[in-house]
Amino acid sequence: MYKTLTTTLNDGILEVAVNRPDKMNALNQDVMKDLGLVIDEIYKRDDVYSAIITGTGPKAFIAGADIAEFLTLSPNQGMELAKRGQVIFQRIEVSPKPIAAAVNGFALGGGCELAMACHIRIASDNAKFGQPEVNLGIIPGYGGTQRLVQLVGKGKALELMMTADMIGAEEARQLGLVNHVTTPAELMDKTRSILRKIHAKAPLAIAKVVKCVNDYFKEDVDGFETEMQEFAKCFATSDLHEGAAAFVEKRPANFKGE
Ligand code: COA
Repeated sequence: MYKTLTTTLNDGILEVAVNRPDKMNALNQDVMKDLGLVIDEIYKRDDVYSAIITGTGPKAFIAGADIAEFLTLSPNQGMELAKRGQVIFQRIEVSPKPIAAAVNGFALGGGCELAMACHIRIASDNAKFGQPEVNLGIIPGYGGTQRLVQLVGKGKALELMMTADMIGAEEARQLGLVNHVTTPAELMDKTRSILRKIHAKAPLAIAKVVKCVNDYFKEDVDGFETEMQEFAKCFATSDLHEGAAAFVEKRPANFKGE
């Protein structure tokens, strides 16, 4: 179904692997088109509760946008490229279903930006993160200048983007860029176990958490107001009644997402 991705549905988790290992899974236009389509699939399919994005092979998550495609672009085409990428990554960020990045190697440039658009990042201990665009005379274009600041703060974000330095998984964890670090062998299972834990929670409440947290970063929206609104809407859901009843009856809740 996809030219550049493999997908497997595993226990409600759509596991998506970018599949260009000979090119370090670089994000060319075919990959970006497929990513747009797979996000649609994640949003639409009722049997998909969450998703993992990873890279094929032992070396790379994604080593950035495809540099070979940069050479011939005009400024207008550059704008189009960034716009298309930002729309796709934003749909990941605002997805009502959890999307995790399982970072299994180099996450550079657009790869680091894709990981940052996901809700949760788990990295194997051989992963390397960086925004090395200035080496090429460009800057991040898929939201990296904004999300890196959000995750690690202004000072470190500026250092990483200005020096083009790569950092390892443990440093990325200490900076808040990564949630957990595992061995390569444990990476997918650790990521799955976090998503399965989320599957057991009330799906509408999970979507509301995503919305409220994202609103923190919007200039024109008061996140506290969003929180009040979304909190109030919970009282119209049968999930809230199920959650409260399950607590009182000392049994696991059976949420329906209603
Ligand atoms: N775009 C296009 N092709 C890429 C790529 C990218 N971002 N990253 C790697 N590749 C290709 C290489 O050109 C090479 O292809 P070839 O075998 O046809 O020559 C192949 O992937 C393997 O990469 P190679 O550089 O030989 O592997 P390495 O282990 O020596 O180095 C990296 C790995 C990731 C450090 C190195 O490939 C690299 O620096 N890539 C570019 C990272 C970058 O600047 N990303 C931001 C882009 S905006």
